[in-house]
Amino acid sequence: MHHFNYHNNEMYCEDVPIQIIAQKVGTPFYLYSHATLKRHFSAFNDAFDGMERLICFSAKANTNLAVLKLFANLGGGLDIVSRGELFRGLKAGISPDKIVYSGVGKQVDEIDYALYKNILMFNVESFEELELINQRAGWYKLKAPVAIRVNPDVDPKTHPYISTGLKKNKFGVDYKTAIKAYKIANSLKNIKIIGIDCHIGSQITETGPFEDALKSIKMLIYELKDLGIEIRYVDMGGGLGITYHDESPPQPSEYAGSIIKLLKGMQIKLILEPGRVIVGNAGILVTKVLYKKSDDAKEFVIVDAGMNDLIRPALYRAFHNIEPVVKSEGKSIIADIVGPICETGDFLALDRKIADVKNGDFLAVMSAGAYGFTMSSNYCSRLRVPEVMVKDDLFYVVRARQEYADLIAGESIPPFLEN
Ligand code: LLP
Repeated sequence: MHHFNYHNNEMYCEDVPIQIIAQKVGTPFYLYSHATLKRHFSAFNDAFDGMERLICFSAKANTNLAVLKLFANLGGGLDIVSRGELFRGLKAGISPDKIVYSGVGKQVDEIDYALYKNILMFNVESFEELELINQRAGWYKLKAPVAIRVNPDVDPKTHPYISTGLKKNKFGVDYKTAIKAYKIANSLKNIKIIGIDCHIGSQITETGPFEDALKSIKMLIYELKDLGIEIRYVDMGGGLGITYHDESPPQPSEYAGSIIKLLKGMQIKLILEPGRVIVGNAGILVTKVLYKKSDDAKEFVIVDAGMNDLIRPALYRAFHNIEPVVKSEGKSIIADIVGPICETGDFLALDRKIADVKNGDFLAVMSAGAYGFTMSSNYCSRLRVPEVMVKDDLFYVVRARQEYADLIAGESIPPFLEN
């Protein structure tokens, strides 16, 4: 359920006609519904009622400060993969003791910053990283709280680029290696083992893979217990999918149920790192039709948003529904919806049946709240687009459109090139 609905053939975000925002802010822009974000976060959190848990929203899905602040206000934590995400999270008021740090390539300055800020947990992905964290914590005379990221070797049945829990993926360590890593961690002076972590992939549309992963994690917890190693936090990562097209992923309650039943009676605190399921359908990308053209073979609708603004279709062949902001009577067409960039991969949709449109019409690219703005770039020296949040009948620009000066910020011409 989201709050992008038609009233009298015109799409609204909550109580604001999207057309009005498009006219005021200009296109393209990302648009988020406050009510939807709040509802999704609360539904996910409430689904785990009765369990000690912490919802660490996965920053990579959407790092806008207003979005993060909303989750902070709702008691949420954050899953980060970089110092930049930590910086943003803290700026948004997320408490450091609710922040977990994942990622295979943490660097010294990033580890130091996270230690200094006293985050909840490092999700460690290799022996070398473990040793580096121990060394840095030693330097600061601290004990770094860690979990080992285990790769449970389950197939999440999702796009290969976003599956992470298979043996062949670069993430975490396998079951046997995890035992070894825990033994080493246990012997290190400046490491405090507090948890176990896994994340098997993204856009997962069934509960089975999560259950398989958790069963393997549980076995490991018991095995560690026999070795005298107590696990307090179980971090199940993120990955729950959403409906982009015709998928029917489990509801948060169903997903939670399948996890809770496996953890019954265990003295642990659950950490979850949802990203897409919270923000995906809480945001859209609004774009404007620039031109139409057709030949015998094809019809093209050229819009002002390109692959630099939303790369998911180009990168994963991802499907995003495209709807007119104002519906008109008339036929539908089958067309490629393409951007202004000089690459064949620059499309939002291929061979898509959409309402017939004309230049100047606004289109809503649906389900764009996750991995939309965060994966955008300045390719072709295009300005990053604004982000707007609606609450009830008001809208707020929560990130301004970039200016041309931003494009060259930090660049310089060396003296030897000056005439
Ligand atoms: N935790 C970890 C350690 C992760 O690597 C990820 C996502 C998440 C949590 C959140 O997963 P989610 O709940 O959003 O599925 N750019 C791709 C998705 C990449 C996901 C990477 N990791 C896309 O646009 O589909």
